[in-house]
Amino acid sequence: MNAGELRSKYIEFFKSKGHAQIQGRSLLPDNDPTVLFTTAGMHPLVPYLLGEEHPAGKRLTDYQKCIRTGDIEAVGDSSHLTFFEMLGNWSLGDYFKEEAIGMSFEFLTSPAWLGIPLEKLGVTVFEGEEGVPRDEESAAVWKKLGIPESRIRFRPREDNWWGPAGSTGPCGPDSEMFYDFGKEACGPDCGPGCPCGKWLEIWNDVFMQFNKNAEGVYEPLNRKCVDTGMGIERTVTILTGKESVYETEIFAPIIGAILKASGGGSYGVHEDRDRSIRIIADHVRSAVFILGDPKGVSPSNVGAGYVLRRLIRRAVRHGYKLGIEGAFLSVVAEAVIAEFSGAYPELAENKAFVLEELEKEGLKFLETLQKGEHEAEKLLPNLLKDPRKIMSGRLAFKLYDTYGFPIELTEELAAENGMKVNREEFDEAYRKHQELSRSQSGQAFKGGLGDQGEMAVKYHTATHLLHKALRMVLGDHVAQKGSNITAERMRFDFSHPAPMTEDEVATVQAIVNEQIGKDLPVSMEVMSLDEAKAAGAIALFGEKYENQVKVYTIGRSPVDFFSKEVCGGPHVEHTGPMGKFRIQKEQSSSAGVRRIRAVLE
Ligand code: SER
Repeated sequence: MNAGELRSKYIEFFKSKGHAQIQGRSLLPDNDPTVLFTTAGMHPLVPYLLGEEHPAGKRLTDYQKCIRTGDIEAVGDSSHLTFFEMLGNWSLGDYFKEEAIGMSFEFLTSPAWLGIPLEKLGVTVFEGEEGVPRDEESAAVWKKLGIPESRIRFRPREDNWWGPAGSTGPCGPDSEMFYDFGKEACGPDCGPGCPCGKWLEIWNDVFMQFNKNAEGVYEPLNRKCVDTGMGIERTVTILTGKESVYETEIFAPIIGAILKASGGGSYGVHEDRDRSIRIIADHVRSAVFILGDPKGVSPSNVGAGYVLRRLIRRAVRHGYKLGIEGAFLSVVAEAVIAEFSGAYPELAENKAFVLEELEKEGLKFLETLQKGEHEAEKLLPNLLKDPRKIMSGRLAFKLYDTYGFPIELTEELAAENGMKVNREEFDEAYRKHQELSRSQSGQAFKGGLGDQGEMAVKYHTATHLLHKALRMVLGDHVAQKGSNITAERMRFDFSHPAPMTEDEVATVQAIVNEQIGKDLPVSMEVMSLDEAKAAGAIALFGEKYENQVKVYTIGRSPVDFFSKEVCGGPHVEHTGPMGKFRIQKEQSSSAGVRRIRAVLE
C-alpha cells in the first residue's frame, strides 16, 4: 500500500458512506493569519464547523496538504515531518460519535478496506473535567465494536481535546486511534497514547460539541460536528510493516535521488548520514509544496517565506555535510514533483518556478558556506601557531554566525590540520545566541505574525485601540491609511487634515492606556462583511474582503465593547499585559494623512 492507494481507498470508503469529496485547499491559509500554514484538514473548514452551510452538503471528505513547523528542530529523527498529508471526513451537524467511530472502525479493520487486525489497535477517549463530562459514550461504542477495555484509555485534556489555535471557536473531546507495534509495554501504565514507542497515533476523531466563547465558557453548539484526521505517512508506515515513515515507499524515490546526488551509498547504514538524508528529504518535500502551492511564496525574511528559507538552507547545509557538490536541490525536487503531482497537479504546473527558486536560494547559501570555508582556511596558519592546537570556540562561532558555517565542518577542517575546536566555548556562545534568536524569532515556527513574535501581536492590538481612540478624539473621518509594526515600535497612518495638538495627543494616549488598564478581553468571530458592518465593526475602505471575515472585538461583550474591527489578527487575548502605550511622535505622512509613531513600554 502506498500513499496513492490509501488516498483512493479512504475517499472511496467515505463516498460509499454518503460523503462528498471536496478539494483540499492551499497550504497558505486564506482567512487566518494567526498561523503561517494550513496545519490540519479541518483548517479550511472552520467557518462550516462554526455553522455556515457547505455547498457540498453535510458529509464531506478530502485529503489536505499540511505543514507544522513547531518541531522543525526535531526533524532528522525517524518520525518527525514538517510536511504531511491528512485524510479527513466531516459531519456538519449530521452523524456524531456512534456513527463516526463506527466508520473509523470499519475502515481500519474490515478486510475490504485496511484490514488491520483488531489486536493491533488501541484507542484513547477524553477523561472529562469540570464542565465537560467523561466521554463514556465513545468508550462504550469502541467496546461494543470489539476493542477490549484494557486498550481503551481515558486521557486528560492535553491528549484528548482538540480545538483551534485561537482562544475561541469550535472544539471538543476527541478519540484517537493507535497502532500497537508489538513491542513490550514500558511499564504497568503503558497503553494507547503512551509515548514509549510501542504506540503510534494514526487517526483522530474530534467531536466538536462546544464553542469556547470570549469569556472562556464552553457553550454547547447548536449543531454538533465531527472532524477527523488520518495521517497518510504514519498509516502507510504501519500498513507496510515499517517502523519509520522514512522507510516507506513515500520517501523511497526522494531518498533515492539524494543518494544519487551524493554519489551512491545506501540509506540505513550510517546513522549520522541517515539523519542528514532524512532532513534533506523532509525539508525539500516541504519546500517543493510551499513553492508549488497556487499561492506559492518565495524565500524571504518574513512569515511563510522565512520558514521556506530556513527549510532550504538546512537542506543545503546537510547536502554539504554529505559531500554533495553543486546544485542538488532541483534533482531531489524533481523526484518530489514526479511522485506527488498526480494528487497535487499544482506541483507540475509550477515546476519551473519551484526549481528556479530552489536553485537560486540553494546556490546563494552554498556560496555562503564555501566562503566560510575559505575564511577558515585563511585563518589556519595563524591558528596553527598555537602550541596547544586549539581553535577558540569564539572563532568557530563567528564562522557559524557570519557564514552559516556548521560546527561539524569547522571541527572536520580543524582535525585535518591536527587541531581541535574548543567545543565548550562554542556551545556556550551558541546557546546564548539560540536563546536570543529564540526570543526574537522563534515565533516564526509556532505560527503567528511571522518572525515578529509576541511584541508584534501586542502592537497589532494597540493599533486597534489607537484607531478607535483617534476617532473618539478627532472624529469619525479618521480612517486607517496604513500601519507598520516591528517588535520595537508601531507606526500608524490615518486621514486627518491638520496636525494634532499636544492636548489631543495626550488624550488619545490616555484613552489607549485606560483601555489597556481595564484588561479587556479580545475575542474573534467569523461573519459576513454586511453582518460585521451591522455589528458596528470598522472595515477598511477600499480593502478587498472575502465573503466571510474575522471581526476582532476588544471589550467585555459583543455589545459592550471599546473597539470592533474587521481584521485578520492575530491579537492578544487580554489587553492587560500589553504594557504602557506612549506616542513618540505625531507628524505629517502625506497630504491629508498624519502618522503616529508609538511604543509599548
Ligand atoms: N483536527 C484534528 C487533528 O488535526 C482531526 O483532524 O488532529
